[in-house]
Amino acid sequence: MNDAASADFAQTLACHLRTEVLGRPLYFFPTLDSTNTYAARLARDGAPEGTVVIADMQTGGKGRLGRTWVSPPRVNLYLSVILRPAVSIATAPSINLLAGVAVAETIASVCGLTPAIKWPNDVLVNDKKVCGILAEMQAAGSTLHAVILGIGVNLNAPLSAFPEELRGKASSLSVVSGRRIERSLFTAALLTSLEKFYVLWLQQGFSAVRAEWERYAADLLGKTITVAAAEGTVTGVVLGLDADGALLVRTDAEATPRRLLAGDVTVVGGYQRGVKP
Ligand code: BTN
Repeated sequence: MNDAASADFAQTLACHLRTEVLGRPLYFFPTLDSTNTYAARLARDGAPEGTVVIADMQTGGKGRLGRTWVSPPRVNLYLSVILRPAVSIATAPSINLLAGVAVAETIASVCGLTPAIKWPNDVLVNDKKVCGILAEMQAAGSTLHAVILGIGVNLNAPLSAFPEELRGKASSLSVVSGRRIERSLFTAALLTSLEKFYVLWLQQGFSAVRAEWERYAADLLGKTITVAAAEGTVTGVVLGLDADGALLVRTDAEATPRRLLAGDVTVVGGYQRGVKP
């Protein structure tokens, strides 16, 4: 582990940080098992909203649906933020969607690339996944105590860092752009964008973020998809999102659209384009 490179990332990020809440305080580690696991512990111990945990590598990075998140050292971003929104448990999942919008906006503005969002919150460039988001809730009964919002962005990992079976599906921003992405600048811009959309969501609800989400997910609208959801596999045409962030899918068998809250989407024909900055 190159601790000097880690220290440089942390110090430069602190210099570039322009947020009011997110990243205050900010914890930085050369290695963690998972930033989400560490942040969850901090949250249980009472850490305030906005606390950010970043690691330079993860030995047990967690993905959605029990998968692992490939987390090689010193090249990417592994970040978790503790949020304590005063909302119901049913409202909280749309944090996933606003986080996807913030990542997409950052990729467009910092890297000049054309990102696309794949529901609920994968961010793709050139049809390859470059970011994953994992939001975990801490609740007691019907009271939400905290959301641990984990964001992994493949910034500079070479394709060789990914296992062979992922190389057709995942990539990094440097591989797709041919340029090295400065990690501290990207992270500072991401936290600024995340704070902007989080405040908007807190003040006006998900409907204030929906148009931006649909802009980045424009390729999905009208497409036929298959969703592996908790209630089984659903195939139909994407109509958009409702005011709570549920995906509306028109199936052949039902008169009213299906409302999906979670699942894994496969698009017939894949994602072709994204949104220009
Ligand atoms: C996905 O499967 O798409 C979600 C991946 C989420 C990865 C991030 S990396 C930072 C944070 N810590 C983790 O262990 N997971 C999330």
